[in-house]
Amino acid sequence: MYIKRLEGKIAIVTGASRGIGRGIALRLAAEGALVVVHYGTRRDAADETVNVIEATGGKAFAVGADLNTLDGVDRLLKSLDEELIRRTGSNQFDILVNNAGIGTSSLFEETNEGEFDQLFAVNVKAPFFLVQQSLGRLRDGGRIINISSGVTRIAYPSILAYNLTKGALNTFTLHLAKLLGPRGITVNSVMPGIVDTDVNAPWLHTEEGRKFAGEMSALGRVGEPSDIADIVAFTASPDGRWVTGHMLDATGGSHL
Ligand SMILES: NC(=O)c1ccc[n+]([C@@H]2O[C@H](COP(=O)([O-])OP(=O)(O)OC[C@H]3O[C@@H](n4cnc5c(N)ncnc54)[C@H](OP(=O)(O)O)[C@@H]3O)[C@@H](O)[C@H]2O)c1
Repeated sequence: MYIKRLEGKIAIVTGASRGIGRGIALRLAAEGALVVVHYGTRRDAADETVNVIEATGGKAFAVGADLNTLDGVDRLLKSLDEELIRRTGSNQFDILVNNAGIGTSSLFEETNEGEFDQLFAVNVKAPFFLVQQSLGRLRDGGRIINISSGVTRIAYPSILAYNLTKGALNTFTLHLAKLLGPRGITVNSVMPGIVDTDVNAPWLHTEEGRKFAGEMSALGRVGEPSDIADIVAFTASPDGRWVTGHMLDATGGSHL
């Protein structure tokens, strides 16, 4: 049972159908926020996130949009406007978590232009324009949280194109924090290390993979979505009001 620090707040979590995004949605809802559970293609998984939230007394609804294109960003905002006005009488919200993202398994030498562009489209371009188009909807005193990655601190050249997208996201965080500070809006990055989600399942769910990943962390284990969600909840809450423009390491002390 959590203190209801987010009662009366509305939070949008992109990519909340699965993995880290789902963990964040559950946690923000547990603190009292009405959560918009965004998904790309997995409506079934998004519905499951909503069901879990509602079953525990929380409030949420699902909205789908492919963030690979700017049309998708537009569609997300149009659906949000409709749904929020219908439910609350206004299209204003308080918290935006840019979590939806894709990874890569291509080595530097193998990465082609199409994959490079797609990584930047989903991981950088979509958050950029989603924030830009949300400025009139995000209330003063609001929160923007960008889910970046520990690979912006730890050299991991085997997935270089992905790492660049997260570096860009951290730069976005820094400059947005300055831009939006006068409105009392904080902007932070949260940088997970290896977390047990679908994207890592093929290699992490082996004895060897789990051992390798666990040994990276000073705390000796692999991260769970709730480890990241708890940090996001802090920055989203009134307790996080004096932290902005910050890159919060959420790697469990990996490669210290
Ligand atoms: N897992 C890790 O170890 C790790 C480490 C560091 C950073 N991160 C970052 O954390 C975030 C979440 O990762 P995760 O591991 O939880 O990923 P995940 O389990 O693969 O889930 C990805 C989420 O993003 C959505 N998504 C993907 N592509 C999309 C698109 N084109 N349009 C709209 N939505 C899309 C998915 O929607 P659907 O369900 O509809 O497909 C899903 O909800 C990502 O930004 C990732 O880079 C993850």
